[in-house]
Amino acid sequence: MIVNVWFALLQTQTPGLPEHRVSDIFRPLATPGTAEKNIALLTLAITGAIFIVVGGLIAFTIWRFRRKPDDNSRQEPAQVYGSNQIEVAWTVIPILIVFVLIGVSARVIAGVQNASPPPSMLKVRLIGHQWWWEVQYPDYGFVTANEIHVPITSESKTATYLQLESLDVIHSFWVPQLAGKTDLIPNRVNYMWIDPQEPGIYLGNCAEYCGTQHANMLLRVVAEPKADFGQWVAEEQKPAATDGRVAEGKAAFESLACVNCHTVKGTPSIGKFGPDLTHLMSRQTLASGVLTNTPQHLRAWVNDPQEIKPGCLMPSMKLTDRPLDQVVSYLESLN
Ligand code: CUA
Repeated sequence: MIVNVWFALLQTQTPGLPEHRVSDIFRPLATPGTAEKNIALLTLAITGAIFIVVGGLIAFTIWRFRRKPDDNSRQEPAQVYGSNQIEVAWTVIPILIVFVLIGVSARVIAGVQNASPPPSMLKVRLIGHQWWWEVQYPDYGFVTANEIHVPITSESKTATYLQLESLDVIHSFWVPQLAGKTDLIPNRVNYMWIDPQEPGIYLGNCAEYCGTQHANMLLRVVAEPKADFGQWVAEEQKPAATDGRVAEGKAAFESLACVNCHTVKGTPSIGKFGPDLTHLMSRQTLASGVLTNTPQHLRAWVNDPQEIKPGCLMPSMKLTDRPLDQVVSYLESLN
């Protein structure tokens, strides 16, 4: 259901408006997310009960021992110091509660971490950058960005294993409906796995402050039926499309500093610092989920990325209208 709502929202999205919806951890659609939701509910139930008991006692005391209209004595009530029974109770009960929560959490964490990967698992290497996600499919030999396509597990029986790394600072992978947060740490490799059961677009974001555009480091997981996933993989594996009509744009692109940071497979552009653009048009969004991928947005982004994501590491090339249009036409041919 919620998946349909997403699609509806996606389709009706007003151009120019950034997408900032964070999805609901209480409606998980994958195994790790479900396990974590259950802990969240248990914790809420326990802390909710504590809140009601403590709040109720305070409210009752305030009401029961309020000053009566005929009480003019101005005397303090009897002062009681020390009660072994009460002190033991308020020490032992919280300790028991804390140990229950520790035990349940440890069991769930171990269950998620120790789940043995099926041999047919899909491997995805996710690398955090300021402020976008590099998505590598080592078994298929291609690289994309900001959108992780995976087959739905209910059909393919294959979970997706994520190898999480960072090239600069600490980021954190978080797609609330699929799994809890897992950090991407420089010089360290972390793992997480996801097994979305229903097709859909699962929205996520970086969950560890990583600099000025942290809030605009958005991520989406596109879970699709096996056949669609296979088709997507086949398209991504192809070299970049060559279209004679955009030859001027291609030449302009390759004469600019764009090539230092971006790869377009099968062309002289082999930069690795920014997102791979080989199949840019197959992506739904630009600038790590900040803009929908429309020609107007692409033009605005190339014209001045700093206008859209101030502080981001892509400079404005200060192009005049004609070369800007040519470069954008070239990028639009990268489908
Ligand atoms: Cu990357 Cu916050």
